[in-house]
Amino acid sequence: MGGVPLRLPSPLVELDDERIAQRDIRLFLKRDDLINPEIPGNKWRKLKYNISAAKAAGASTLLTFGGAYSNHIRATAAVGYYYGFQTIGVIRGEEHRSLNESLTYATSRGMSLVYMDRTTYRQKTSPDVIGMLRERFGDFYLIPEGGSNSAAVRGCVELADEIDIDFDFLCCACGTGGTLAGMSAGLKPDQRALGFSALKGGDFLADDVAQLQRDTFGEPLSNWSINTEFHFGGFARRTQELNEFIADFSRRHDVTLEWVYVARMMYGIYALTDRRFFPRGFRGHSDCHRLTALLKRSLVSSFQVIGTLSARGGSWFLPGQRPLATVDGEFTVESHPLPGHRLAHGVDHELYGAVIDRAAVVASERGSLRPRACCH
Ligand SMILES: Cc1ncc(COP(=O)(O)O)c(C=O)c1O
Repeated sequence: MGGVPLRLPSPLVELDDERIAQRDIRLFLKRDDLINPEIPGNKWRKLKYNISAAKAAGASTLLTFGGAYSNHIRATAAVGYYYGFQTIGVIRGEEHRSLNESLTYATSRGMSLVYMDRTTYRQKTSPDVIGMLRERFGDFYLIPEGGSNSAAVRGCVELADEIDIDFDFLCCACGTGGTLAGMSAGLKPDQRALGFSALKGGDFLADDVAQLQRDTFGEPLSNWSINTEFHFGGFARRTQELNEFIADFSRRHDVTLEWVYVARMMYGIYALTDRRFFPRGFRGHSDCHRLTALLKRSLVSSFQVIGTLSARGGSWFLPGQRPLATVDGEFTVESHPLPGHRLAHGVDHELYGAVIDRAAVVASERGSLRPRACCH
């Protein structure tokens, strides 16, 4: 495609970390952050087919949307610079007198910034707002916020193909859900994708991911879920705990985690590992920087949950955000005679196995709950 040097496939590296190893898990980082310093991670994957579509449409200008800290805004500015497009970034909220580092970078790559008040920004996909932008800026190829459209989703499908080891879980951070929507479509039938919302109140993301999959593949897939716990107070908020996690990770692994998305996901992966969300015997793989954690269980779970589970400090969702289980009361565990059996609503045994393991931990911690296991 010309343009800019790209390191593809991106490297896959195993994380040597006793906190992971002691749970019998292996965790790998798919270093998409090394694809290109200016168009890192999922940004290249999401913009790749948008660039070809814009070229095919004869567009000379790319217009896109984002918050003041948006990595997508930066990447679109870089793509414009290297692939010969004018770029316009429509930024949510009031004008920033002194530009932050992201916006400074974007303007250094020739992007024109315009600011949109938050009320109008919420309507940014409406014909009225788009019409107003076309009146002001003339013709442009429109890339939605976060780059998430069908072209982006198709680009992210290719991620899993680059991973030549066996794995169970592929993890990524979620902002708009486009990466998860595509990445999960590249998985094999026994693999699952796990997204971590970088936003507070990220429950809506499941609907967005399902819609992106509907738009791209005709129907949503059932092999993914989204954890919404590790938002640290909201999008682009930094807390001492998160800062300490990033500093500790850097000391241990000499990798500085990107803090808006990746650090939250990695924190979540460690927290879930600690809670035994990924049961012993899973082999792990993680995609970082839009990487992904993949965790493989060496023994196929032979359990399914019947009854109601409810979890404190953890919840499990089916695609579409229907609660799968919460750990808070009595529950029943039943061994199932058919390994690999798929439940009617599309949840597989391994996920149920993870829920059971988690429920057992919660139950034993509380002492008051008694899992009831019955074998068939
Ligand atoms: C590192 C990283 N991970 C994840 C995301 C979120 O991707 P998506 O908007 O496709 O959910 C972003 C978005 O900017 C990102 O920069």
